[in-house]
Amino acid sequence: MMALPWSLVFTVFLCFTVVSSATLAPKTQTFIVRVDNWMKPPQFSTAEQWYSSMVESLSSTNILSSKNPTTSQTQIPKFILHIYKTVFYGFSAKLTPQQAQKLKQVPGILSVFPDRIHHIQTTRSPHFLGLDTAKSISGLCRRSDYGSNVIIGLLDSGIWPERHSFDDHDMGPVPSRWKGECVEGDQFPKTLCNKKLIGARYFTSGYQHAFGESKENDMKSARDDVGHGTHTASIAAGRAVNNASFIGFASGEASGIAQKARIAMYKVCGGSGCMASDILAGFDAAVADGVDVISMSLASDEVVPYDQDVAAIAAFSAMEKGVFVSASAGNSGSTSGTVANVAPWITSVGASTIDRTFAADLHLGDGRVFIGSSLYNGEPLDNNTYWPLIYGGNATARGYSYLPSYACFPDSLDPNLVRGKIVICDRGVISRVMKGVVVKKAGGIGTVVANVAPLGEGLIADAYMSPALAVTESARAQLLTYINSTPNANATIVFRGTQVGVKPAPVVASFSSRGPNPISIYVLKPDLIAPGANILAAYADDVSPTHLPEDPRRVEFNILSGTSMSCPHVSGIAALLKGAHPDWSPAMIRSALMTTAYTHDQDGNALLDEMDLKVGNTWAMGAGHVDPEKALDPGLVYNLTADDYINFLCASNLSLEQIKAITRRDVNCSQEAQNLHPWDLNYPAISVAFDPSLEPSFWEVDVTRTVTNVGNATSTYTVAITNPAGIITTVDPPTLMFKQLDEIKSYTVKIAADPSCVPPGTGQSEFGQLSWSDGKFQGPGGGDKPAAAPPAAQPAEVPKKSKK
Ligand SMILES: *[C@@H]1O[C@H](CO)[C@@H](O)[C@H](O)[C@H]1NC(C)=O
Ligand SMILES: *[C@@H]1O[C@H](CO)[C@@H](O)[C@H](O)[C@H]1NC(C)=O
Ligand SMILES: *[C@@H]1O[C@H](CO)[C@@H](O)[C@H](O)[C@H]1NC(C)=O
Ligand SMILES: *[C@@H]1O[C@H](CO)[C@@H](O)[C@H](O)[C@H]1NC(C)=O
Ligand SMILES: *[C@@H]1O[C@H](CO)[C@@H](O)[C@H](O)[C@H]1NC(C)=O
Ligand SMILES: *[C@@H]1O[C@H](CO)[C@@H](O)[C@H](O)[C@H]1NC(C)=O
Ligand SMILES: *[C@@H]1O[C@H](CO)[C@@H](O)[C@H](O)[C@H]1NC(C)=O
Ligand SMILES: *[C@@H]1O[C@H](CO)[C@@H](O)[C@H](O)[C@H]1NC(C)=O
Repeated sequence: MMALPWSLVFTVFLCFTVVSSATLAPKTQTFIVRVDNWMKPPQFSTAEQWYSSMVESLSSTNILSSKNPTTSQTQIPKFILHIYKTVFYGFSAKLTPQQAQKLKQVPGILSVFPDRIHHIQTTRSPHFLGLDTAKSISGLCRRSDYGSNVIIGLLDSGIWPERHSFDDHDMGPVPSRWKGECVEGDQFPKTLCNKKLIGARYFTSGYQHAFGESKENDMKSARDDVGHGTHTASIAAGRAVNNASFIGFASGEASGIAQKARIAMYKVCGGSGCMASDILAGFDAAVADGVDVISMSLASDEVVPYDQDVAAIAAFSAMEKGVFVSASAGNSGSTSGTVANVAPWITSVGASTIDRTFAADLHLGDGRVFIGSSLYNGEPLDNNTYWPLIYGGNATARGYSYLPSYACFPDSLDPNLVRGKIVICDRGVISRVMKGVVVKKAGGIGTVVANVAPLGEGLIADAYMSPALAVTESARAQLLTYINSTPNANATIVFRGTQVGVKPAPVVASFSSRGPNPISIYVLKPDLIAPGANILAAYADDVSPTHLPEDPRRVEFNILSGTSMSCPHVSGIAALLKGAHPDWSPAMIRSALMTTAYTHDQDGNALLDEMDLKVGNTWAMGAGHVDPEKALDPGLVYNLTADDYINFLCASNLSLEQIKAITRRDVNCSQEAQNLHPWDLNYPAISVAFDPSLEPSFWEVDVTRTVTNVGNATSTYTVAITNPAGIITTVDPPTLMFKQLDEIKSYTVKIAADPSCVPPGTGQSEFGQLSWSDGKFQGPGGGDKPAAAPPAAQPAEVPKKSKK
């Protein structure tokens, strides 16, 4: 699901939703209710009884209470979907909007908000697992015993437990602190859990209420009927499996990052998405069960403030309990400002490519060749025959001009115009693999799936069921020119299969969502990038690799792309770091990941952005590409406590009520906190904004950062700076001397902008880097890069709009 196409998908399918809602729409919808548990009246012995009574007493004409005569003090009424006890206090319930309004008046109710849909972040594409990633983390694996004492909880679509990736051979006993459970369900006996898959639960009542209880979405167990959760779980912690491949592509060993880490699956997603009410229940259970890392490969379609974002609220509580939360940055690139999961206590992961592609070439009759990508493995086209080439938008079926034929929408193509030809279809509206099916049904020979803005030069390989390939946005422009200027435009497709050692790599994936952070511009998001394109990992047996009903194939492994795939890479690496450094806080783990990330490709050149194949910036890649081995020994880290985040919220002008919604307890913003700025949060990055309409005295900002020595006891670090354009940065002191481990030192960065360098009236970002090096400390990876290369400072100049 890509950003731009996704919005189109929504528009198109809206018609169907409207039609069906006339008959299917429930009169109630799900609301999530936050409760102040301290206000529970004494006559109720438990919070559950109090919640039940509140909902039941909403009104005597309440259709719900008449339908559900559960007045017993011990039974939870059926219209309460989930009770939240750990990361959030309250419940979700089926209510009418009027009832929700009424509930807001009840003493003790802090807020009532409607359920919201989130989506898994795969582009539903194919590619290969970065085995090189696994190889490069051998030292880290040894020092953490492959994460054997670490538990990764995944909030996802469930798991296919029989896969070899979840085998528990050679694994020690389950950590005794584990409080989770293998919950029995449809086609999921308890015996399917083992020493690898140690927990499985499902929270799907919000989903069922939103989408109806049809057979398809009535799976009452943690079994994966989508394929996504099986894939992400095996990326984060799958065992090594020999002879893995996807229909012959990317063959070799498939292995997850933390091969001995334990997996706990919390199923909160179905084929149509994941409801906030279920996500919250999964979070609640995962934290109560005792997971160390939460991996969340999903994102909300809407950007909402932290106090209304259940994932952000739940993650805050998880962070307080020492749980590391990583999440997908989203697949809405390359549009800027689209990054998701932006709360500073969540690690938001963007996606990069690896050095493996699945090449297919489009040869034109005039001799030109466009390199594309495909996982088609059927009968190839005769490469000596050239077929006429046509654009879907020029082949609209008569009487169907309202259908998007440019995107090869079902039934939109005229078979008389398409028969025996190769058809160019624009990306978007429907899935890429579906376009191949539509063209074939209309009699076409082959399909060219062409990028449109803002997808740029990113290529996604798909397991097409007929000869087809993906081409870039620039190729599309040239193809359309060719068609419109040549009477007998013609082409053929040559499939070249798996290619390794492709350069340049890594590159920022064009679909990866971009900063700046739409909620807090002073907090860098995404935090970093990790492999998310062409990832081979385990898959479910219940669904075909393309999700097309026409596709009879069932595969043990599938190749998918998306920030859904990059997130579990970082979850697995975080598990290894936690295994090697059990005392590190989530902020220390993230700091180690960010300050050791690199911004160059395998040849040492600046890391590019697939969008336009130009040098990628900080909004695209955050601190850079994850380097697991270096993260093991970062030298210095930027730690954060819950109070630091609260001070940040105070400094960000949230009301005490809003802050309380996140922290679940009373807080007062101290005078000191009120004098802080949001950029004072001790984040492993610095982002500031200047307003050129203000006096030059406002063009200078002092930012303080505090580092903790986790390297050698006695060490001296010296700063090095790459100034952003038009900015002068000075660091005081320029040298930090440490005498012991865990010693803490602060420094101040004075960032001064030259007003004459910024064109008035335009938002402009500039990026720099600040690094600390002890000159001697070398990461185990060797090389001449400083082990401690702290924050990428990106003074972001965001001038006010010009006055007109
Ligand atoms: C791997 O697959 C090939 C071909 O299917 C087979 O010949 C070989 O024995 C397999 N190797 C292992 C270790 O399973
Ligand atoms: C294919 O296209 C080329 C030019 O693009 C043209 O010269 C050639 O005649 C075409 N072949 C057929 C069979 O139409
Ligand atoms: C065309 O197909 C033949 C036979 O499959 C193959 O040997 C040849 O390499 C192909 N040509 C190109 C340009 O790929
Ligand atoms: C085909 O479609 C393109 C883009 O919509 C348009 O510019 C062109 O005129 C069309 N060509 C024909 C022959 O209709
Ligand atoms: C890091 O912060 C955590 C609180 O989040 C605190 O418990 C821990 O002691 C700190 N660690 C160091 C080394 O300062
Ligand atoms: C917070 O509000 C104050 C007063 O309205 C304003 O001066 C300041 O810029 C605001 N800070 C942020 C981060 O919005
Ligand atoms: C916050 O301030 C109020 C009023 O001064 C006080 O009653 C309350 O106890 C304080 N809460 C905390 C957590 O300090
Ligand atoms: C720093 O620590 C490493 C690893 O413990 C050690 O090999 C190295 O000699 C130390 N360097 C200094 C200067 O103490």
